[in-house]
Parts: sequence; C-alpha cells; structure tokens
Amino acid sequence: MYPGALPRNRPPRQLEPPLAMPQSRVMAKLWTAAPGALHPAVEHFCFAADAALDGRLVRYDILGSLAHAQMLRSIGVLDKDEWRRLQHGLRRVLRAHERGRFTITTADEDVHTAVETRLGRAGEKLHTARSRNDQVLTDMRLLGLEQLCHTAIAAARAGRALLAQARRHEFLPMPGYTHLQRAMPSSYGMWMGAYGEELADTLVELDAAYTLMDQCPLGSGAGYGVGLKVDRRLTAKLLGFSRVQNNSLYCQNSRGHFEAVALSALASLTGVLGRLASDICLFCSEEFGFLKLSPGFTTGSSIMPQKRNPDPFELIRAKAVRLAALEQSVRLVTHGLISGYSKDLQEIKGPVIEAFDLAPACAQIIELAAPELVPNKKRLAAALTPDLYAADHAYDLVKQGVPFRRAYHRIKGQLDRLEPVDAEKNIRSKAHFGATGRLGLKENSARLRELETGWARRLRRLRAAWNRLLKD
Ligand code: ARG
Repeated sequence: MYPGALPRNRPPRQLEPPLAMPQSRVMAKLWTAAPGALHPAVEHFCFAADAALDGRLVRYDILGSLAHAQMLRSIGVLDKDEWRRLQHGLRRVLRAHERGRFTITTADEDVHTAVETRLGRAGEKLHTARSRNDQVLTDMRLLGLEQLCHTAIAAARAGRALLAQARRHEFLPMPGYTHLQRAMPSSYGMWMGAYGEELADTLVELDAAYTLMDQCPLGSGAGYGVGLKVDRRLTAKLLGFSRVQNNSLYCQNSRGHFEAVALSALASLTGVLGRLASDICLFCSEEFGFLKLSPGFTTGSSIMPQKRNPDPFELIRAKAVRLAALEQSVRLVTHGLISGYSKDLQEIKGPVIEAFDLAPACAQIIELAAPELVPNKKRLAAALTPDLYAADHAYDLVKQGVPFRRAYHRIKGQLDRLEPVDAEKNIRSKAHFGATGRLGLKENSARLRELETGWARRLRRLRAAWNRLLKD
C-alpha cells in the first residue's frame, strides 16, 4: 500500500470543513428535501463563492422580481393585495441592501433564495412560472446592459480626451516606428489620433454585444417554458429590454455565449488601451524621453529615490491581458456543455463581473491621463534624424517622373548625405485622408460625442424603466 492510501475496511474520514467556513445556520434552501442532508463541505464548495458574488446582483434580482410580480398580477395569478404586499416587501429588501443590511450567506445559497425567504408569506407566490435559471439569466443581462453603457461612455470619453490632445499637438513632429526602428516622420496628432479613432470603433463591438444582450430571457423558466400563459412581452418591456428572447432553450444556451461576446468587446477595448499604455511606458523612459508624466500618474520606489514609475500604465497593460483571459474563461466554460442549464454556468459569473469592473476603470484612467502627458519637443525633434525622410526624398524624385524603384535605389546610395528637411512642413504637407496633414481629428471627436450621447440615452432609458418599477 502506498503511503497515504486509505486502509481497507475503514470508511473514509469525513471531509473537514475548511477553517474559515461559516457553519450552516438554518437550511434555508428552496429545494431541500431532507434538511441537513447536504454535507457542509459540499455546501461551502458549491455556494460560498457564488453567494458572495450574488451581492452584486441584488438590485437586478429585485427589479426582475418586481417585473415578474406585475406580470403575474396582469394574468390573474396575484390579486391586488398580494401584488402590493410583494412590491412593498421587495422594495424593503432593496432598501436594506442599500443600507448594507442584507447579506447573502452560504446557507441561503443564492440571491434568489435570499430575497424570496426574506419576503415571508408575501413571497410564496413569487416563484410561480419562473425558475432560478431564467432569474439569474435576467440578472446577468441587466448587469451586462448597464455595464456596457458605463463602459461605452467611459471609452468614448477616453477617446475624446485623446483626440483633444491630438488636436492640441496636431502638427508636433514625432518619429514613426516599424519593427521598433525609426521609420518615417509622424506626429503627436497621428499617434494620439489613431487611438481616439480606434476607440470609436470599439464602440461598434460594444454595440453588437448590447444588441445581443438586449433580449429578455425571463419567462423561459428552467429552459423549457412554463405551464401558465405568461406575458413575456410585458416583463421585457417593464425591465427596459427591446425584445423578448424567443426560444426558451436558446435562452439557457445563450448564457455564457452572450457574456463571452460582451467580454470580447471589453477585451478589444482594453487591448487598445493596453497598447497605448505600452507606448506611454516606452516613450516616457529615459532612453526615449518623448513624454513626461505628471506626478499624479507616477509612483516612486522604496529604495531608489530618483525613480518615477508609470504604474497605472503598466497595470492597464496587464489588465488588458487579464481581460483577454477572462473572455476565454467564460467562453471555455460553455465548450462541450450539453444544451440546457448545467451548474458549470455559475462559473461565468465571477469573470463577467470582474471584467465589467476592470474595463471602464482602465478607460477612466486613460481619460484622466491624456491631458497629463507632456510631450518633450526637444527630444522629439532630436529623434527625427535625416534618414527618416529617405522615402520622402524618393517621392520627390517620383514627382519628377523617376520610377519609384529607381528613386529608391538612388536615395539608398546617398543615405549619409540627405538634404535636411523641415519636420513640421513635411508632416503638414501630407494631405491625403489619414495622413499627418489630414487626420480628421475634428470629425472623429464629433463622431465620439455623438456615440457617447447615444449610449447615455440608452442608459437613461434603462434607468427610467427601472425607476418606474421601483416607484409606481
Ligand atoms: N447560482 C445559480 C447560477 O448562477 C443560480 C441558478 C440555479 N439553478 C439551478 N438549477 N440550480 O447558475
């Protein structure tokens, strides 16, 4: 027998619950057949982490329940008194939550149970025609819609802040790199403007994610519909969704899928921000010296008094990688799953919430940082060595009718004696669409402003629907 193997004929020892594990208080489960039957270690393993995350879903869960109760009233499942009592109870739980007096414990299992059990008798009919499966789907959708709005607004604001700096230093010459080798003259306007324009395009991806998520899964039950004639259009409308997600099984199957699409959009956004952050780290190093960071955006060293470190930008770079990993972890949970609900799906909640926290936070830091990046004109000018204009000299010959390949070879033969060039004149003279002399910065700013307004309108519409549920 190898060391550590269980001796034969003796039952395996009971698993010790981890030290930090809270012992179950009353078994408050909605489903429990034999109270106390669930092993405490299993209870902890299955529910502890999820119950903690569910604290983030309380508001959405209560909104979903308010809409569901109103629908049950409209189809005659609840009488007026029952409905009012439920409304009152649900609002009371929300107020307790807002005052920090509503905690979801492992014994509760989840937010859905915690809310229902706090309602007492008034809550007994609330679970008619629904399942925790369509409840959690709805909660995550509402969280997703709200956070997509916040993220898109933060991204638009970051983009506008970058474009404002691009306009401020539009014709400040700067070397352009390929392979991290000096390549051609570029400009501060082109560098920052590129990121502003790319951020505007990431809003297209966020918009696609929003469109997918903007379908209400409530009423799909456990994934196969319910045995009462529920009015799914009404609940969708009450919650501020644009439409009902039709097929009940598809509702379940889209859990994890829609979230992965949203996280892919978030990862695209943080990918853009991470790349910018990487440029900033490089350009503010002593070796480049193109940028100076204001003290508000650098940290110090505990041992080297001279150090100023670009921590926020390094962290944005790392968080961009984290976002890509979170997207994958959500996507991979759904791979190989059979159709319908499986408990595996619970595992997507953590990555989704984390990603929705991280992405707008990264965008906000870039928005704040943009005006604090001070270009060092001297160092930029010194880096614009004559060789950077080699291709431009070849184009001067092309303008005189010399075939490009010949012009290329002629200039290549004179690299050590190229005519000096006025950098600013050079970058201003390039006037085709997207060149340093015609970056369309104003147009891009206007596009971002318009997109931001659209997202703000979306958010207001959602909030207005939710406020009606909370106040009517
Ligand atoms: N916490 C669960 C989750 O996030 C809620 C749904 C529970 N459904 C079930 N059939 N056990 O997936």
